[in-house]
Amino acid sequence: MGQFVCLLATLVAAIAFVQRTTGAPAFAIDPGKAVCFSIIQVKTFLSLLSVHPSAFSEQYDNFEKPELLEGDIAGFGKYRTAKEAIEALSSGVDRNGYYSFKWENKILYYTISIRFIDWERERIHRAIEDINNHTTGLRLVERTDATVQRNYVHIQRGGPNTGCWSYVGQIGERQFLNLEVPAYPTAPHCVHHGTIMHELIHAIGFFHEQSRTDRDEYVDINWDNIEKHQQHNFEKYDSSVITAYGQPYDHSSLMHYGMYDFAINRSIWTIRPKPLWEDIEIGKAQNMSEVDINKINLMYPPQ
Ligand SMILES: *[C@@H]1O[C@H](CO)[C@@H](O)[C@H](O)[C@H]1NC(C)=O
Ligand SMILES: *[C@@H]1O[C@H](CO)[C@@H](O)[C@H](O)[C@H]1NC(C)=O
Ligand SMILES: *[C@@H]1O[C@H](CO)[C@@H](O)[C@H](O)[C@H]1NC(C)=O
Ligand SMILES: [Zn+2]
Repeated sequence: MGQFVCLLATLVAAIAFVQRTTGAPAFAIDPGKAVCFSIIQVKTFLSLLSVHPSAFSEQYDNFEKPELLEGDIAGFGKYRTAKEAIEALSSGVDRNGYYSFKWENKILYYTISIRFIDWERERIHRAIEDINNHTTGLRLVERTDATVQRNYVHIQRGGPNTGCWSYVGQIGERQFLNLEVPAYPTAPHCVHHGTIMHELIHAIGFFHEQSRTDRDEYVDINWDNIEKHQQHNFEKYDSSVITAYGQPYDHSSLMHYGMYDFAINRSIWTIRPKPLWEDIEIGKAQNMSEVDINKINLMYPPQ
């Protein structure tokens, strides 16, 4: 409002000035006032300039992007970094990730960053509701009491190139789940129904479907098309680390990689569903599969 008044005043002053120099009858405004108004306006403009960009960056949550395991896993159990997690898994020491890190009392508390804008927040709520609608034992509950609800997932609003990622299972105290928001309307981002649920299912306690102990019967891995330093993303885990709760391998799991993930040459597959003569798709799921739901319900049974 103040800016508008200032703008109007400067305009009036400018007209007066022009009319004066063209010899037409002037308004009763002296040029000194016009200069004053202009200075106020320039100041307002500058302050807008300096306030605006920082206000914009503050829309994102600030954090250091962690190194990630399997593309979107920041750690699990007591392994707070991907490096520790990879070392632990490959050395075979203390291989008891996953089902040891369930949420106590079958309640996963969460908080959602205040920086999310309305449509993003709605999608997050819908994804949480979809999980709650289909699970019988587990509850995702908004955290309301910081003194009692110590362990929780904080869903943060990530800026450009921060990716979509989560920890696997409960790691203790506050743990982050990052959703990169679109930097411009058509930009790739993580605020999709399926992607939000995918990251939440990591937080609930699941790795990717293709890291299952029995995966070699259901997918081929094209190691030649995967950079050496990315090959750890295609590890399968020992049955001492993970369990599929007796559920069949599920190509249509929301937790399955797509065919070209981590490819050196993006037109050649890195992971291919078997058997080859069947028309199977992977990495295309937008929703939890029956198996995804069953596994959550077996990890967190109703009673
Ligand atoms: C969850 O269930 C309620 C009640 O049946 C339904 O109205 C709502 O649309 C469901 N939400 C989702 C995301 O499926
Ligand atoms: C990627 O693979 C395709 C299909 O085999 C091939 O035509 C293309 O030359 C490859 N690109 C590079 C950069 O190697
Ligand atoms: C699949 O997604 C729709 C909305 O996108 C939702 O209403 C429905 O409940 C979901 N189904 C399952 C099994 O998650
Ligand atoms: Zn994932």
